[in-house]
Amino acid sequence: MAEDRLAAGITGLGIHLPARVLTNLDLERMVDTSDAWILERTGIKERRIAAPEESTSDLATGAAREALNAAGLSPENVELIIVATATPDMLFPATACLVQDRLGAGRAAAFDLEAGCSGFVYGLAVGAQFITSGCFRNILVIGAETLSKVTNWQDRSTCVLLGDGAGAAVLQPVGPPRGILSVYLRADGSGGELLKVPAGGARLPASTETVRAGLHYLTMNGREIFKFAVRSMEEAAVEALRRAGINQREVDCFITHQANIRIIDALAKRLGFSPDKVIVNVDRYGNTSAASIPIALYEALVSGKIKPGESLVLLVAFGAGLTWGAVLLRY
Ligand code: UT7
Repeated sequence: MAEDRLAAGITGLGIHLPARVLTNLDLERMVDTSDAWILERTGIKERRIAAPEESTSDLATGAAREALNAAGLSPENVELIIVATATPDMLFPATACLVQDRLGAGRAAAFDLEAGCSGFVYGLAVGAQFITSGCFRNILVIGAETLSKVTNWQDRSTCVLLGDGAGAAVLQPVGPPRGILSVYLRADGSGGELLKVPAGGARLPASTETVRAGLHYLTMNGREIFKFAVRSMEEAAVEALRRAGINQREVDCFITHQANIRIIDALAKRLGFSPDKVIVNVDRYGNTSAASIPIALYEALVSGKIKPGESLVLLVAFGAGLTWGAVLLRY
């Protein structure tokens, strides 16, 4: 394994969450729902919501600054910024370019990556290729979302699930035993209808009619996505382990996309992970899409569940597209 392993590793992490907390009790006053229903069906107690003037690039920039500090890297030395997001500030320019300007990372290339909630896992996999090819040595991979901006706050089937936030990682070349050991990425565009924002793009440009019909809001087939989530993340976890020649029992920390505690529990059970290895923060942040895995990774590191140079960490995600994937790394 040692000779063909990838030598890109995470050397700094940061997060940024909006200050405003929206609890289930707050939601009870907004739509026909209850704290008991939300907690039992999703495990979510509260989520963060961006202020009206706060956008994805603001959260991304905050997370990136902390990650750069943690890695001891100055913005001028960043060579590439990848922002994984489904809620960019604008259709263009890329949110990554806005972040590049705000950071003062004048030498960095920058682009957005759209893989729904799998965006951060995709971003790590893409960033790692630039490092292993020798193209770049200092890369920022950011998962950032303001889903609240595309949420229909009158639709109880979606608005109770979502939250805003950002997490960022610095990727650099690392020596053994650290670094990314394997990646597994998949997509199935035939399932695109299950989770989408219909209007606002080139197919259905924003108009008075699209806004009146609420087509600029996120829509979802929750039951189908639930089934897909468990099935796809199990496949991704198994494949990433197989590709690295690692047994599931060797994994110290299992981090899945945080969408629903029932999805996380079902997956952990199928794969045989004991609860002490499974990171859960969906109760405090809800589903923050591409931001959920880096936020959970950051919290696992800060709480001491991940030990640098030692811990084997498995990241698994699924999302709109449909997309899914996994990254196995020695932190
Ligand atoms: O990042 C990927 C994004 N999406 C996901 O990961 C979502 C995956 N899916 C899920 O997490 C679950 O399917 C949900 C949490 C969305 C829904 O849970 P469920 O157990 O699949 O509920 P359901 O859709 O089968 O609905 C059960 C009932 C329905 O009422 P009836 O038809 O049985 O009378 C819904 O109308 O619950 C009702 N319901 C609600 N009741 C109170 C739906 N949303 C709510 C709500 N409060 N917020």
